This record gives sequence, structure tokens and C-alpha cells, in this order.
Amino acid sequence: MEIVICPDADEVGRVAAAKVAQVCRAAETPVLGLATGSSPLAIYRHLQAMVADGRLDLSGASAFALDEYVGLDPAHPESYRSVIHRTVTEPLGLDPARVHVPDGAADDLEEAAAAYDRAIRDAGGVDVQILGIGSNGHIGFNEPTSSFASRTRIKTLAERTRLDNQRFFDSLEEVPTHCLTQGLGTIMEARHVLLVAQGANKAPAVAASVEGPVSSMWPASVLQFHQHATVVVDEEAAAQLQ
Ligand code: F6R
Repeated sequence: MEIVICPDADEVGRVAAAKVAQVCRAAETPVLGLATGSSPLAIYRHLQAMVADGRLDLSGASAFALDEYVGLDPAHPESYRSVIHRTVTEPLGLDPARVHVPDGAADDLEEAAAAYDRAIRDAGGVDVQILGIGSNGHIGFNEPTSSFASRTRIKTLAERTRLDNQRFFDSLEEVPTHCLTQGLGTIMEARHVLLVAQGANKAPAVAASVEGPVSSMWPASVLQFHQHATVVVDEEAAAQLQ
């Protein structure tokens, strides 16, 4: 695991975007793994600047989001389908037909989850998976006690996650209780994993996941087993590292 500590959140985005660009340039038809939430926004901003001035061309790239809420209208501005379109597909000039988000509105959620894993496999797998980390150590929405072998599936959101994500909604009641998320086993199949974290509230999760024993109580700790894992954090998020 490579750990990079940056002076501030914007530098986290710059360093991580450079890594994403490096992997994408080396791939014939890059397949990106996308996270939502606040953490990757600086990466997307820096990638947008590279696309805008011609340093990077992502028009042939495919992308797979990590997760989606269940029970939220896909047209809702906070559905991950909407968020990915607004923050990634449009600014980076991706082909919308090649950008995939789990179908949290499907009648048959189990089949939608299985179809998502098949679609990732059919695309040749993810070249670089961008990850944020929950304050409880989740990646995707793999909450503590998630199986390391898990595949894309329905999960119940932890209360801590619903409270953390309340800021995107008008009230806690509006925050969905369930989601479809790539499993830890699915995420671990990406050829590179790139986790970013900014801010003091991520420091305990970063320390436990990077330096603690590998444990399903800190799902991100499974990344210690990945052959090509990079963790880029700011000084606040790094504060509890040894
Ligand atoms: C989002 C996701 C989550 C977030 C995590 C951190 O697609 O899968 O694991 O990355 O909850 O969220 P932020 O970045 O908003 O602190």
C-alpha cells in the first residue's frame, strides 16, 4: 500500500487525479470506478482541467459507480445517478451510454445487482477504482461486518452513514435506508484502487484501515491485501497514522 500525505485537500485531488490519468493513458479503453460523496470532487475537478486543456481524453472511457440508493427516485438530485451525471459524466466528457450506476429502482434488486457485476466483468474489469472512506471505515456502502468476499448486493445503511449523509437531504427521514453497492470482493478485483480522505473526521478510519489489523469491522482494511493500492490523504486525515 502506498500512502501519500498532502498538505491540503486540493493537493489530494491533484495527486489522485494524476494517478487516475496515468492509469487511463496506459489503458486502451479505460474503465473507471467512480465514487460519489465529497471526497472525490477535487479529483474530478482536476481531471476536468486535464480534459479541458487536452492533456487527457476520456471520450472512449467506460465508468462504473460504486453504489446507489434504493428507494430514491433516479431523477432525485441526490440519487447517485444524478450526482455522477452532474459531477463526472458531463464535466469529463464521458459518453453517457458508457457510464453505469447500479439500478436502485429495479423491481428485482437481486437481479440488478448480479447484472451489475456481469456488466463490470463484460467491460473487462475496472482499471482504477476511486474510493472515499466513511467515518466508520466503509468503502462503497460496505458497512462494518461486510464480507470480504461480497459481490454487488442490497445493504442496509448504518445509522452513522445516514447521519453523515443527512447533509445532502432536508432531513434524516429523507435519507434512504438501503442501497445497492459493489461488494468488497467486487472492489478488490479492480486493477488499481485509489482511496482519498480529507479532514479530521476521517482520521480514525484512515488509521484503523491502513495500520490496524485487517478486520471486517473496518471494511477499508481489506485494501491492505490489494497489490496496487494507493491512499492519498491530507494532513488532517493522516493525523492518527503512526
Ligand atoms: C460513495 C461511497 C462512500 C463514500 C463515503 C465517504 O459512492 O461509496 O463510500 O465514499 O461515504 O463520503 P464523503 O466523501 O462524502 O465523506
